[in-house]
Parts: sequence; structure tokens; C-alpha cells
Amino acid sequence: MEKQVHRVAVLPGDGIGPEVMFQALRVLDKVSSLFEINFEFDQQPVGGAAIDELGTPLPEVTLKACEQSDAILFGSVGGPKWENLPPDEQPERGALLPLRKHFGLFANLRPSVCFPSLVHASPVRRDLVEGGFDVLCVRELTGGIYFGAPKEIREEENGKVAIDTMVYHQSEIERIAHVAFNAAMTRGKKLTSIDKANVLRNGILWRETVELVAADYPDVQLDHLYVDNAAMQLIRRPREFDVVLAPNLFGDILSDEMAMIAGSLGMLASSSLGENKGNGLYYGMYEPSGGSAPDIAGEGIANPCAQILSAALMLRYSLGCHQAADSIDNAVRAAIDDGMRTSDIFTEEPNTHKLTTSQMGDSILERMTSS
Ligand code: IPM
Ligand code: MN
Repeated sequence: MEKQVHRVAVLPGDGIGPEVMFQALRVLDKVSSLFEINFEFDQQPVGGAAIDELGTPLPEVTLKACEQSDAILFGSVGGPKWENLPPDEQPERGALLPLRKHFGLFANLRPSVCFPSLVHASPVRRDLVEGGFDVLCVRELTGGIYFGAPKEIREEENGKVAIDTMVYHQSEIERIAHVAFNAAMTRGKKLTSIDKANVLRNGILWRETVELVAADYPDVQLDHLYVDNAAMQLIRRPREFDVVLAPNLFGDILSDEMAMIAGSLGMLASSSLGENKGNGLYYGMYEPSGGSAPDIAGEGIANPCAQILSAALMLRYSLGCHQAADSIDNAVRAAIDDGMRTSDIFTEEPNTHKLTTSQMGDSILERMTSS
């Protein structure tokens, strides 16, 4: 039988994106040889790199490469160089948001995992994170205040007015709630839904709809928190959370908070998924939770783990290569357990080694096995 070829659009983007993407591609090459999986990579510019090269953050060739692929492996976009462009031409608004919308990637899964051996990297008091934790943020990604119309700044008689509109259709809340409940079923069976039902109409509909969907999942223990309270509870008792379900803006904010509590943004992968294609697989975009980190770009010290773990998520959710995904996850964990550290997670301790980006890549490659 001919081997199946998995087509992957590779968009390294800006800042540390290209450096960490290079390591993820090395890991995928190793996957290829260990598991006889064939990839076809179509690498294209996106974000500031695409503005510099082709004059626009999301060029036609890039979009086409994505359309012709099974998944998108994304680095990061943005940086000071492009910050003064008109809003819609900036890397984030001009590339990332349109990609999410174009492919209907409504479900953003952001695992926030604090490895027991990395609790020292968390800024939170040790006794609150001892033993590590594992929280999954399920963020709605194509609706809410990010996309509602009108969205504008206009002149009025007494000065400028800025308007953003928060809109949620019940069907949008339902479908993301199902994703969150399903995820909870495969984990600790606890779901915390986030809203601002004491102020926003959106919050009332959100809570009501999540309650309705809950009827399909009697085994999942559901509770609701207002977003301000959630921000506080997450930092007070991170280990008690399992799955957190949030609308677009609140999920954006809380997932950064959770990432920080976990220690380093450099460790956290994420996936943005569309509808289930029917075979348990999704079209998806996979990217580190952190940004382009322009302050350390080009120095070869960025942590490649988030990008590498994003590739593992891609293997799992879009390509159905679970064994290969396991081998990556295990290798990253083994490297960390063996004291391998990039500078963002390094502290002077016995048996730890401060590594560059490519040395960290090496140490993960060395630990990958086919069983
Ligand atoms: C994220 C980012 C984006 C967002 C920005 C870059 C548009 O912060 O993926 O969390 O707000 O969604
Ligand atoms: Mn964000």
C-alpha cells in the first residue's frame, strides 16, 4: 500500500517563530523516519515577514497553501517593526484573525501544564503549585467581541467614538460547549464555564446555553464563574481546575494568566480547530501560546518546546498519528525531567543544563523512540 502523505502548511512568521519552527521541523523529520509517516511541507511567509516580502500579512499564496493542506503549523507573528501600520494591515489583525475566521477555527484548546519538575519556574507561591497541574482552556475563537459588527472608530460632534460589539449566537455557544464537555469527559470530568452574566447579556445567554448542553454530559461536574472571580481563583487554586470554557476575549486573557502560572509561555502549545471532519480529525492550526518575543529573536535562546508540542497536537488532532504524537510528548517530558532547560525555565539547581534553542531540539530528538 502506498504511504499516505500528510500535507502541512508551515508558516514560521516573525520574531522567534522561524527559530523554533526549525526545531519542530527537525522533530517531524525524525517522526517521518521513526514511524514511516510522509509529510509534504509547504512553507510560506505570514505576518511581518510576508509584509516585508510581498506587501501583505496574509498573501494569496499563503492562504492557498493552507487550503491545500491537512493542517497549518504556525509560528508567531508581529513585532515593533510593523506596529505603526494601519490596524487592519498589522500582522495580528491582518493574518492571524483572518486565518481563524477563514477556516472556521472556532475551538482554541490551550493546555496549561505545569510539569512537577518545573514548579520552580512558576511565579506563584510554591505550596499552591507543588506537584504541578494540568488545566485545559477551551476558548471560543471566531465570535464574540473580536468579530462582532459594528467595529469602528468614528468621528462624532463631540469627538471620536470607538465601538466594538460583542455578539454570540446560541449555536456558537453550543458548539464550543460540546468541545469543552467532550474534553472534560476524557480528563478529570470537571468543567468551569466563564462569563460575566452579572453585567453582560452575552453572559446570560452563555450561562443558559452551557447549562442546556450540560444535560448531555451528566458525568461532568459543571460550575460557573464570573471572569473577574475566575482570574482570582485560578491563581489561588490552580490545581483544582480541569477544563475552563471561555468566550473569546475572556479566554484570551485567562489563558495568558494560566500560562504564566504554569511557569513559561515557552512550554505551552495550542490548537485551533474547526468542525470535526467526521473521522475524529479536524482541520486545525497549531501554534505556541506565546508570541513572537522580538526581544530575544535571533539570539538562538528561545524555548522550542511549545512549537514542538504544537506539532504533536497537529499529529494527534489533524493527522491521526497518535503514536508519533506520544513519542514527541514523552521526549519533551523526558528532556525536562533530565534537567534540560532553555534560559526561560532555567534556575541553578543540581543536574540542570542551560541550553540553546538547537541544543534543546537535540535533546528532544535524542529521546524520541518508536515504541
Ligand atoms: C492570542 C493572541 C491573539 C489574540 C492576538 C495576537 C490577536 O493574543 O492568540 O492569544 O488576541 O487572540
Ligand atoms: Mn492572547
